Amino acid sequence: MKFGILCASDRCSAGVCEDKSGALLQTLVAPFAAQTEYVLVPDEQAQIETALISLSDDAHADIILTTGGTGFAPRDVTPEATLAVIDRLAPGISEAIRMKSLAITPHAMLSRAVSGIRGKTLIINLPGSPKAVRESFEVIAPIFRHAVETLSGQTQCCGGDYGK
Ligand code: MTE
Repeated sequence: MKFGILCASDRCSAGVCEDKSGALLQTLVAPFAAQTEYVLVPDEQAQIETALISLSDDAHADIILTTGGTGFAPRDVTPEATLAVIDRLAPGISEAIRMKSLAITPHAMLSRAVSGIRGKTLIINLPGSPKAVRESFEVIAPIFRHAVETLSGQTQCCGGDYGK
């Protein structure tokens, strides 16, 4: 599988702090990924959209994981950028992340993260902190393989025991 990792952060892109969540995501996807492409952008909707389009259409990522910019702060625009570039929603993924995360912290309600499909690329928003990234990743890792299979038109395995 090919992964795109996109970090949306004004502070990290300005060099004020280190992108620990993007680095963590690169480590977490390593067992699943033949290739990983990483992009760091500020919390600017147009730049996030451009990066998502490039990772989908040019780099042909199977799955793009974003980190950051899903909250209520005025500059949190990752969900808006994602909604602008996807063709189809995949709400169950974000619902599952929030549901499992709510068992850990009520602050999970404060993530406006969305998930969806652009062409053959699945885009999943994750919150910004390394803690939230780790907790969210555990929820979604079991569906990567089957999600990519079905996106590429291989539906003959549906009904199998994926994710168990
Ligand atoms: N989800 C999990 N699993 N664990 C967390 O610690 N933090 C929350 C939430 N989701 C959290 C979580 C907090 S504090 C916020 S403000 C929102 O994600 C949005 O985070 P973001 O703006 O960094 O994307």
